[in-house]
Amino acid sequence: MIILGIESSCDETAVGIVQDGRVLLSNVVASSMELHAKYGGVIPEIAARSHIEAIIPTLQQSLQDAGLGWDDIDGIAVTQGAGLGGSLLVGVMAARTLAITKQKPLYPINHVEAHLYVNFITESRIAAIKPRHAQPGFPILGIIVSGGHSQLVLFKNHFDYTLLGQTQDDAIGEAFDKVAKIIGMPYPGGINVSRLAEQGDARKYKLPKAKMTGKYDFSFSGIKTAVLRLGQELVGKDHSLPSFELPGLLNDTQKANIAASFQRTACEIIADKALLAYEEFSPRSIIIGGGVAANGELRKQLAERLPIPIEYPSLKLCGDNGAMVATLGCYKAMLGATPADPYTLESAPNLSM
Ligand code: KG4
Ligand code: ZN
Repeated sequence: MIILGIESSCDETAVGIVQDGRVLLSNVVASSMELHAKYGGVIPEIAARSHIEAIIPTLQQSLQDAGLGWDDIDGIAVTQGAGLGGSLLVGVMAARTLAITKQKPLYPINHVEAHLYVNFITESRIAAIKPRHAQPGFPILGIIVSGGHSQLVLFKNHFDYTLLGQTQDDAIGEAFDKVAKIIGMPYPGGINVSRLAEQGDARKYKLPKAKMTGKYDFSFSGIKTAVLRLGQELVGKDHSLPSFELPGLLNDTQKANIAASFQRTACEIIADKALLAYEEFSPRSIIIGGGVAANGELRKQLAERLPIPIEYPSLKLCGDNGAMVATLGCYKAMLGATPADPYTLESAPNLSM
């Protein structure tokens, strides 16, 4: 079963090809990130236009890398949501067109679920991408930490899962990006905050962890505001100081200490709840997906606190990619999911798990 997966939910146009839900054959990612950097965040119209330019070359490159033609492809999987409306539309329309013209079954994919499914890849034909040693065993505790989502999910089996909890406001990646802006780090914020944090004292400032009604719910909006207030206080100003003036007033040591203290606390918020869920549900394995899965501090804390080790996807598979969409598509196809109608499939920007 060879599935081609198309991802276009945000600023990456990506096409991956995966066999039998475990063998990675190709993974091509074209990013428009540089175009957004000067605006300090993703501009939806620019992202959508970039997808239109990139989708055909990315498809061709992915097939070429895998050494395959359309006759070898058994089905097409595409991110249906969640994501930016205009961006999703490009991938979905490309997938619909291909499903019709190449006569392939079409599988709509939930982006967030797909982030977890890269963990089923255990063989790779791409030298730069090391696969996991073994597939995770059910029941699985899934931790999603991306720019748009922060969720804990318990899988009893494929497609049989319970959403334990999720963020009630900002996602953890979004908080990293907003804190980056507050202290004047360039976009993309997450990786830059984590690099700066290496030079800071993670115990310098105490930042708040919100108390939630839902046992497994998260909140990252309060900590982001607390960082802004802390910065204003450190430079001797009150709440009326516009946030864009702050980076020019904070010194490098203060910025590094804020980055490190924020990162420690934000990762603790995830690790606290992951440990609670582990204790309540005793999963056989724990998997993690989404851009923030690349964060070293999060990995360190989870390793120190969780009783079972986590095997991580390759860094290249933590962020948005087509292989994750193809992998989940394989399971849909192999387990007999009904394909979508290629004449009517709509994107779903607010799709949730
Ligand atoms: O999964 P992803 O590529 O896109 C979404 O589905 O949202 O995640 C992107 C998020 C961004 O917020 C980015 O800043 C964050 O992941 N991120 C990181 C790191 N690398 C990416 N956050 C913290 N540390 C990192 N090393
Ligand atoms: Zn994502």
